[in-house]
Amino acid sequence: MIIAVLNASPKPENSSITMRHVEFLKNNFTEHQFIDIPVSLKIRAIEHNLSFFHDIMETVRSCDIVLWAFPVYFYSVPGQLKRFIELVYENEAEVNFSGKYSTAIATSGGVYDYPALEYIHAVCDDLGMEYFPGCSFKSLYHKDLLQKDVREVFYTFFKRLLICTEDRVRQIRKYPPVSAHSVQFTAVEKQIKTTYTTVKKLLVLTDQTKGSNLERMTEYALAGTSFQTEVVNILDIDLRCGCTGCVQCQFHGECIIRDDVNELFGKRILDSDAVLFAFSMKGRHISARWKMLIDRTLFIAKKNVYRNIHAAFIVSGPAMEGRFVHEFIQIYAGSRCFHDAGTVSDESGDNDEICKNLDSMMQNLETSVSEKIRRPYLFHRRAYHMAMRELMYIYGLGSHTAEFYKKNGLFDYPQGSLRHLFTRILMRFLFTCPLTKAHFRKNINRISADQYRKVVA
Ligand SMILES: Cc1cc2nc3c(=O)[nH]c(=O)nc-3n(C[C@H](O)[C@H](O)[C@H](O)COP(=O)(O)O)c2cc1C
Repeated sequence: MIIAVLNASPKPENSSITMRHVEFLKNNFTEHQFIDIPVSLKIRAIEHNLSFFHDIMETVRSCDIVLWAFPVYFYSVPGQLKRFIELVYENEAEVNFSGKYSTAIATSGGVYDYPALEYIHAVCDDLGMEYFPGCSFKSLYHKDLLQKDVREVFYTFFKRLLICTEDRVRQIRKYPPVSAHSVQFTAVEKQIKTTYTTVKKLLVLTDQTKGSNLERMTEYALAGTSFQTEVVNILDIDLRCGCTGCVQCQFHGECIIRDDVNELFGKRILDSDAVLFAFSMKGRHISARWKMLIDRTLFIAKKNVYRNIHAAFIVSGPAMEGRFVHEFIQIYAGSRCFHDAGTVSDESGDNDEICKNLDSMMQNLETSVSEKIRRPYLFHRRAYHMAMRELMYIYGLGSHTAEFYKKNGLFDYPQGSLRHLFTRILMRFLFTCPLTKAHFRKNINRISADQYRKVVA
């Protein structure tokens, strides 16, 4: 069989971990032909050279299996792969994918790999492909492919895909199509006037185009606000490319590509009290332009530097119905430690409801900033911190990011605390006595709850 590998690592083939996983398949299934297509590395050429794009489509059309192979970047696929998917639609080339068997292999640090795989599943369902649920491999500190049992699982996974393809076994469609409906937004006279007078800085980052719903919604949201606003259209900034995966930023503390990204995410957001992110959806996700920009912010991603900054989100497109943007915002705001004042999209209700939602969101944002209201941290914040803390501790000693963790007390392992050590020793000692053990077992819930008395009295 012919397998077209849509290789979405932006690194050269010989330094891509993802492609080592593909190589494992090549070496174990030598009777099949694998054709590598470097969609991320060559995205500019694919975008600007139509015959190159059509050559790729021809390879896809004539293959038996499409294998999406990508590193997870910011809980999704790299921006370059997102751009490739946009190009398929812009060139009306969906027919080349229709009916093809397909699967995905993702490599990552194991942090939010599932939204990326699920997104590709939805893309394949949209393209009318027979999608065989993909798999994910951890590639940082715990390296899955180096484990014998994982290699066995990987081998059988691919073998099953080949059998399914040969026997044309129908795959489950998981994602129903997203309706194209969105409310045509018209701004009305604002009913709510701001009560705040202190001037705070709001940075608006948007990819709105002239006359778009996103532009009108954003203008409406900002009308009459007490914020001193600065609007940056990310379509106009100097953004040379998406992330190249070089990870030099972990040593320099900023991206080594010289364009507007360091200034925008490393300085201007930090100088603001709040950020309004305005996303126009393309397909089921934020635009490739936005995704490429966010991918480039790895230099700041592992640090909790936005913890005093408030954020709100406007989306033009089916954020909730499409699922991935809604989830992306939750993870992004949570892991970046922004205080989230809410998300408004134009996907449901009517004009009046969207206006009211925008009013509420802006009121929330103003109140949160002015009254210094901090949102409680939820699981995304905690989970992300724990994963990054571990990663930095194992890998990063000496790197810029690890120094930041050390300086800010972020290596806060409970094992390192003397109090926890003492409690552990004491508990072990007390549990050697059957009477104390029985007492604890009987009163465990009350004892746990009683510990809070000293702060609630
Ligand atoms: C910009 C960027 C973003 C990343 N985001 C994530 C992430 O959200 N979750 C995760 O587990 N790993 C993340 N990683 C780690 C990569 O997914 C991982 O190193 C991958 O195996 C690299 O594959 P490659 O060598 O084929 O490019 C990220 C890496 C980069 C450079």
